[in-house]
Formats: sequence, structure tokens, C-alpha cells
Amino acid sequence: MSRQSLLAGGELAANRAEGSGRLRSITAALASVLATILAVPASGAEVDERTLDDLIRRMSVADKLGQLQQFGTDGNTGELLKGQEELLAQGQIGSFINARGARYTNRIQRIAIESSPLKIPVLFGYDVIHGYRTIFPAPLGMASSWDMKAIEQASAIAAREASAAGVRWVFAPMVDIARDPRWGRIIEGAGEDPYLGSRAAAAQVRGLQGATLGEPGHVAACVKHWVAYGAAEGGRDYNSSEVSERTLRGVYFPPFRAALDAGVGSFMTALNELDGEPATVNSFTLGQVLRKEWKFDGVVLSDYQAVEQLIDHGVAKDGEAAAQMALKAGIDVEEQSEMFRKHGATLLQEGKVSQARLDQAVRRILRLKMKLGLFEKPYVDEAIEHAEILCAGNLAAAREVAGRSMVLLRNEGEILPLKPDVQSIAVIGPMAVNPQDPLGPWFADGKKEETVTLLAGIKARAAKAPNPPKVAYAKGCEAVGDSREGFDEALRVARESDVVILAIGEPSDQSGEAASLASLDLPGQQLALAQAIKGTGKPIAVVLLNGRPLTIGWVAENIPAILEAWYPGSQAGNAVADILFGDVNPGGKLPLTFPKTVGQIPLYYNHMNTGRPAGDFKYTSKYADIGNQPLYSFGFGLSYTRFKLDNLALSAKTIPVGGRLEVSVEVENVGPRAGDEVVQLYLRDEVASVTRPVKELRGFERIRLEPGERRTVRFTLETMDLGFYDRENRFCVELGRFKVTVGDSSEGGLDATFELVRR
Ligand code: NOJ
Repeated sequence: MSRQSLLAGGELAANRAEGSGRLRSITAALASVLATILAVPASGAEVDERTLDDLIRRMSVADKLGQLQQFGTDGNTGELLKGQEELLAQGQIGSFINARGARYTNRIQRIAIESSPLKIPVLFGYDVIHGYRTIFPAPLGMASSWDMKAIEQASAIAAREASAAGVRWVFAPMVDIARDPRWGRIIEGAGEDPYLGSRAAAAQVRGLQGATLGEPGHVAACVKHWVAYGAAEGGRDYNSSEVSERTLRGVYFPPFRAALDAGVGSFMTALNELDGEPATVNSFTLGQVLRKEWKFDGVVLSDYQAVEQLIDHGVAKDGEAAAQMALKAGIDVEEQSEMFRKHGATLLQEGKVSQARLDQAVRRILRLKMKLGLFEKPYVDEAIEHAEILCAGNLAAAREVAGRSMVLLRNEGEILPLKPDVQSIAVIGPMAVNPQDPLGPWFADGKKEETVTLLAGIKARAAKAPNPPKVAYAKGCEAVGDSREGFDEALRVARESDVVILAIGEPSDQSGEAASLASLDLPGQQLALAQAIKGTGKPIAVVLLNGRPLTIGWVAENIPAILEAWYPGSQAGNAVADILFGDVNPGGKLPLTFPKTVGQIPLYYNHMNTGRPAGDFKYTSKYADIGNQPLYSFGFGLSYTRFKLDNLALSAKTIPVGGRLEVSVEVENVGPRAGDEVVQLYLRDEVASVTRPVKELRGFERIRLEPGERRTVRFTLETMDLGFYDRENRFCVELGRFKVTVGDSSEGGLDATFELVRR
């Protein structure tokens, strides 16, 4: 087969796959389409650069360095630390992290506005990862909804609550692709896939920022962590990443690019090193890609103490050298460590950092403040905070999104939903009563006192049934630890009930930052508890609360019903009860692969075929003991109803370069209840100049169908959707055959092929 490659940006490359001649021409139309797609979007609200020039001219070096410093406050309360009020009054604090609350931030802001010589407003930043006070499902759970409207809505509510509390800069979305569930921060992202990750990234930026930066009730987003933080070797947090440029461009960069295209206001660099340079000063990712190729001219923030940690990385001999490197590399604002403030003036005097570079960084942070409208409206209305935080609408949305994020992994014998005539329910397990765990490891201002536990949610729903079943509880064991003292009581409660809801999983502090694990088994005595309860012969449904895929092989084989609830947020118990009682039909799908055992990691669906793809023959690429099959595949999830997909149709057998292909499939609800299906489209480039994954997600849609309802779902594939990075790491599309697979997960599905041909 003859293949030709077409480079994005209008240049054509040689056919390296099979050596056919160079293509020399490309239509102007296609070139302009490609240029438009790759262009950086226009920035948000207008900023008067002359006002900025004037302000910068009036600033002293200390004022400027103050703007480039993000000051830490008390990690829990957000209260200012000793000496910060004085600095603020001198106009030498640009932003804070963690300070929050309308009254408190107004008080701080008043010092900046009323006492400082230049009256530059201070910017309050905070980690609003999945909700400010009303906590939504953790990001991995939200990604499991495959529902971009829900994600956007959750982010918009988070922004409304945060901005009402004076926070105008949030360190989200976290869009790191992660293929290793040992890495605790896998919970903060959208999983393993760059396409789903990109859609989720864009939805979060839209929700957080609104249509343009500065929209009232919204905040500036900060996409993080640039970049390849999720590729930490061995899943060990902060560890080195070793990723080829092609994989960076094809897998790790796209969600960041999607955030940029959605207009994200700032980037945060990662804590890892990559190819010999810490991400904070990486000349390729920060200098070449972000600033030069993508032309990002917004604020780049270092991660917490990352500038000072250049010393630990062994690339800076002291704080002065660290500050110099970071400023030169393009960091505009330093978070927490104070190398810029301590050494900036010396660096300037000695000519080690230019005035122009300093002013550029200052301009960027001031521009961000201006776009946010802080100069005109530095204070927040305290009454709005009161009305907005935890309002009924926000709580209802949190409950709904949590329901949409849960994934039904097994439902043998239709244990779920619970039968209407159930008379007694045993709720067992440590995850049913702890109000902290449902909030996940990063819960901003969320409060455990405001969380609906699983037990509370189940009890409340049971009480509303026409014939309310009895609900009894026994913990059985703690989430961690060796004691089995509670087993007898749990067994007694189970034996006296019609059905058992077993709530097990990971405590939230075993997930998130600095929570890498070498074992993904259920911690403590929880597996033994499940085994003991199984011995009662009662029907059991497991509800999992966890932040990463767990190796739950025994549970998957022996417990008939399993609901993956992740960390569902403030409304956890109500949302779980909605599903258990059948008020909500689960429709989420996994955004990442569940391995059978840790030894299979990394295990992800979009792997290369290899020269010896796994098969029965011995000399193929697989584990001889356990094989390559995951426990659960990417995209997998069940429903209380059943769906049938058929009549896959392509609009053509060939499409010319620059053309598009319509793909349609019919979906029918052939089961007894209304429910949601996520129809997924995967693509495989059969022969290319570089090896290509066995399949890649290129489209999906979550639809709702009534029983017996049939609908046609349509996808459009553009030429650009067929592209990849060639041997020179340039984006290209190549002529040739592609396979389309449409299904309900990354396994199986309906196939068809088409060919991309010359125009
Ligand atoms: C360190 C984390 O890596 C980052 O995600 C977070 O935004 C900052 N700390 C600030 O809390």
C-alpha cells in the first residue's frame, strides 16, 4: 500500500513508511484549515496595555518581585502568617494560596488597596479541584461520567462558590495522563486516555472560567502539571519521568493543548524532571513547546516550592541560581518558596536576569488580575457568599453528577437495584460511615460534617420506601489495620438481613498527592471481611470508594454486584442510595484500565500492537503467568438495562485528504428500564510510518434511551482526527486504510474500514 504523509502547518513530508515519492502540493484550503485548528485562541477580556505600561513604570523592583511571589498561608485555615500583613501594606505581595472566605479576603484586600502605595489588588489562589465547599466527585469519578456537560456544570458551581468566597485563581484542572494506578494522584485526573482527557480538560476550563476570562462568578483556571508528572517512574510521586517526544506530543500534551484552546489563563509546571531538566525549567516543554510553538503568553506558575527544589534536583547550586534559572526559563510566579523575592534584586543588579524579563513576568500577572476585573472590583459581596455556598441547587447538582459518575462493574443475578419488597438491609464496612473519605484527598473547603455518608443516605432513602426496610449497620473492620474483632458482629447483622451492602475501598488519605502505593489490594482486613460475609450466603452488593483501580480479583469473581463509586463528594450517601434503590440507573464507564495484578502495570488499552502481539503461541508479548487481559477494560461499565448496537455505517469507503467521514450506529435499549449508554468510537491506523496504537478513542456520546427506544448516533471524523506525530515529531496525516470500531467499551464492538486518499 502506498502511504503519503501530510504535515500539519502545510508542509508535506516524505513517505517514510514505504519509500514512495515526496508529495509536493497541498491545497491552500487545507493549509488554512490546519492553521486554524492549530492556532492559539484569542485571549479573554480586553486589557489596556498602556495602563499596564504606566503601572509597571511606577513599580519598584521590590514591588515587582512581590507580584511574582505567591505566598503561602496557614495550610488549613488560610490565615496569613507573621509579617505578611506588613508586606501587603508595602505592596509586596502579589498573590496568596489558601486564604479564603469573603470577609477574610476582603479584609486582606483592604490592606492592599488602602495601605499600599500603588493599590494593586492581591489575587487569592486555592486548590479547588472538584468543588469549593459543595464537593463533587473526584476528577477520576467525574471523568467516569463521560458527560462533558456535567463536568462543565460541576466546575462552574465550584467557580461560583470559590469566587463568592474571594478566590479568583484555582489550581485546576489537573490533566495529567496517568497509566500507573500506583500513582496516588491518578484520582485528580481524567485517567489514561488523551482524547477523553482533552474533552474533560476543556469542559473544566469552560466551567471554571466561563466563556471568557473575567466573567463574573468565574475564576482563572490553572492547568497542571506541565508536564509528564503522571508518567512518574514506578508510579512514585515526584519521581523522574522518561517519555519520548512522540509520546509526549501524542499522549501527554493533548489535554494541556485542549485547556489552552479553551482559553485557560495559566499553567503550573510539574515537580518532576524530564529528560535531564526539571519541568520547572525544562527548555523543551516550557521554552520550546509552551512558549514558542503554542505561543502561550499567560502566567506560568511554579508548583509549590519547585523553584527552591531546583537545588535538590541538582541543577542549581543555591537559591540565587535557582531563581535565575526559573525566571530565565519562563516561570512568572513562584509558589511558596521565596527565591524570586530573596534573590531577584541581586540577579537584576548583576545582569543575570534582564529588566525586560522581569517586566514581562510582572505584566503577565498584572494582566491576569486585570482580566479578572480585580482592579475595578477588588472586593466580594459577603451576602453572595452566604447565598451561594452549599445552596440547594449546588447540592442537587453534586448529587446528580455523583450518580452519573458511578460505574456498575458487575450485577450477576440482578442483585441491584434492591427489590422493592426488601425487608432488611445490612450495611457493612468501614467506608459506609466515615464522612471524610467520600470527599477524596483534595476537598478544598469541603467539610466532613456536611457530607452525607453512605449509611445516612441509605437510611434516608429506605425510610421513604412504601414499606421501609430495616437498615442495620456493622463496621466489620477499620479500612486499615489488622483487627478482625468486628467480624462476628458484621456476620450477625448480615445473617439477619435479606441483602448486604458492603462498603469497602481505600481511605482517602491513601490516595492523592504523596500517596503512591506498591500494593493495590484492598487494605487492612477488608478482603477477609468480604470473604467472611460471602460465607453467609446472603446476596451482596459491594460499593467501592477508592481513588484508583484496585486489584480486586477475588471480589470481581465472587461478589455478584459491584458498584465503583470513587470518592463521590458531599452528597455521596444520597447518590449511592439513588443507584442502589434504582432511582438512578448507573451509566458511567471506566476512564482507565483495572489491572488484575500490580505486575501488569502499565496496562492501558491504547498500546502498540508489537511485532509479536499477545496470543496463544508462547513467543508473543504477554505475561506467561497471567496474560495481558485486564480485570476491567477502559470504557467498560454496565447498566440496569441492556443495549444493542448495530448497523454501523460509514458515509464513504474512501475520504480525500481534507474531507470528513460520517460514522453512524444504531443503539437500542433492549432491557426493561430507561438508561444511559456511552457509545464509543475507536480508530486504528492500520499501517503508518511509525507504529500506531491498536485503537484510539476518537469520539463518544452518552445517550439516554427509554425501554425499546432506538436511536442513531452519529460521529464525524475529520482528516485531522487521523493524524499523529511522525518520526520527526511533526503532526501529520498519512494516506491509507483505517479501522473504525464502535462499541460500548474498548473491548469488542462493530468494525468497518475506510481509506484516506489523495484529493
Ligand atoms: C502541590 C501540588 O502538586 C499542586 O497540584 C498544588 O496545586 C500545589 N501544591 C498547591 O497546593
